[in-house]
Amino acid sequence: MNKKIIIFNWKMAPQSFREAKRLLTYYKQQTTNDKNSEIVICPPFIYLENLKLKNKNLKFSAQDVFWENPAAGKGAYTGEISAKMLKNIGVEYVIIGHSERRKYLNETDETINKKIKVAFKAGLKVILCVGELKRKSGIKQAKNYIRKQLEKDLKEISKSSINNLLVAYEPVWAIGTGNFCCSENALEMIIFIKNILNLLFKNNKCRVLYGGSVDSKNIKDFLRYKEINGVLIGSASLKLKEIEKILK
Ligand code: PGA
Repeated sequence: MNKKIIIFNWKMAPQSFREAKRLLTYYKQQTTNDKNSEIVICPPFIYLENLKLKNKNLKFSAQDVFWENPAAGKGAYTGEISAKMLKNIGVEYVIIGHSERRKYLNETDETINKKIKVAFKAGLKVILCVGELKRKSGIKQAKNYIRKQLEKDLKEISKSSINNLLVAYEPVWAIGTGNFCCSENALEMIIFIKNILNLLFKNNKCRVLYGGSVDSKNIKDFLRYKEINGVLIGSASLKLKEIEKILK
């Protein structure tokens, strides 16, 4: 439980496999044998298998998955990637419900719930993203919003797979804006999320992380709290200087 998890989400970058390979080599060079943290890289689907094969020491996550897991040869879902495909190439984690997908791809709590079920069934670990839209709506409203997201996203999820769930608290106003949530407020929300998870799934060991404009300057503020089990990093995961400082 004490091991911190640092997740690097590359989103829709870089634009060529060559650059992706170079970026990953940089990560490898900077990764120490630090036993106190777990490093997970989330490249675009198209690079995932190749990067994974070449780098057995780092962990990998997909950025999304489709909500059906059809039997072989029965997948009439053009353009989609199944949980089984990810499992079969040895991917360990998958991000589900990122706010950018909720916003630009119209993902709903219902489809997110289906995706979580299918991912667990295939044996993947799920990084579920939740977060309120506006900062000014107040802590009470924000907590209510997040409680509802968790209840819907985790509806009828089997208890047997719940310890494979990680929740990332990612306030939408903090993502990609440089306007990060102060660590005290993130801590309050993360404790709240853990309480909700405990109500839904007694004695679970789910890890809860913070995400939203994390960089080399503020990462320590979040990781100093034992309740914050790690961070999810977006933009800084593509900047070499930032990667170096974060991993150090
Ligand atoms: P950011 O992205 O670090 O660029 O704010 C975080 C995320 O999208 O998970």
